[in-house]
Amino acid sequence: KIFQIADLHFAHCLDVLPSQYASCSDLNTTAFIQRIILSEKPNLIVFTAKSMGAAFAPAIASYIPWVAVLGNHDQEGSLSREGVMKYIAGMKNTLSVVNPPEVHIIDGFGNYNLEVGGVEGTDFENKSVLNLYFLDSGDYSKVPFIPGYGWIKPSQQLWFQRTSQSLGYSFTSYMNGPVPQKEPAPGLAYFHIPLPKYASFDSSNFTGVKQEGISSNSVNSGFFTTLIEAGDVKAVFTGHDHVNDFCGKLTGIHLCYAGGFGYHAYGKAG
Ligand SMILES: *[C@@H]1O[C@H](CO)[C@@H](O)[C@H](O)[C@H]1NC(C)=O
Ligand SMILES: *[C@@H]1O[C@H](CO)[C@@H](O)[C@H](O)[C@H]1NC(C)=O
Ligand SMILES: *[C@@H]1O[C@H](CO)[C@@H](O)[C@H](O)[C@H]1NC(C)=O
Repeated sequence: KIFQIADLHFAHCLDVLPSQYASCSDLNTTAFIQRIILSEKPNLIVFTAKSMGAAFAPAIASYIPWVAVLGNHDQEGSLSREGVMKYIAGMKNTLSVVNPPEVHIIDGFGNYNLEVGGVEGTDFENKSVLNLYFLDSGDYSKVPFIPGYGWIKPSQQLWFQRTSQSLGYSFTSYMNGPVPQKEPAPGLAYFHIPLPKYASFDSSNFTGVKQEGISSNSVNSGFFTTLIEAGDVKAVFTGHDHVNDFCGKLTGIHLCYAGGFGYHAYGKAG
């Protein structure tokens, strides 16, 4: 069970009921995380956008493994994105990685994967039963004539493709082309900024709530097609649009939002 925490922005409380402002502080969000951990007992906690170290404290204190990817605001403090990711990767009980050690050049910071091993004593004991991918969707476009948010770059997609292939398939050449030798473990992908394909749904074909537009990158990165080709990823989880909280299925892949968590970023009072 994975507990995703999206868009924690510790600062002044925002969009709480008028009667709640006076007594609202960072501690409310910390307590909220603690309540969810206690009631849900997750096996992993995933932050899709960090905030201050205080945000991770309840995860660290729970002794549940946790990971984080960067959001679009994470370079706005005194550290660069690289600095923030290095800091996170050095914290207690985290499985976060700055970047894959086998790759020398890759865009962004916090691209890595985790394999969840099967239960000891079963046929799955030496296999991954779940592959988790974490990617840095960047902050803002660095291309002058492309406005808006960042996206998952070709270097990251190449790393994803190679990783997915090495985890799932052992290809053998047949006359009709490569044939996968075994079924790969299902995969889940986590990053911050939604793909443009999140705009493919309306209330007739998603589950949840959509209360604002889809603030994806303005150009199509091709990552959705890359995911379909790889074949193992069954669901993508992002944050970014705080009052969107839904899942829709497109071409076999669930595209899901986690709603903004806590009392500090823009949201819905009550
Ligand atoms: C925040 O926590 C305080 C102290 O426990 C509590 O009185 C207040 O109602 C909480 N505010 C919200 C918005 O939950
Ligand atoms: C898993 O690996 C261990 C150590 O190599 C081996 O003893 C065991 O038989 C393997 N289990 C299965 C189900 O293949
Ligand atoms: C969802 O339904 C709308 C029509 O209500 C349609 O235009 C859209 O293509 C559908 N999306 C998917 C992903 O099936």
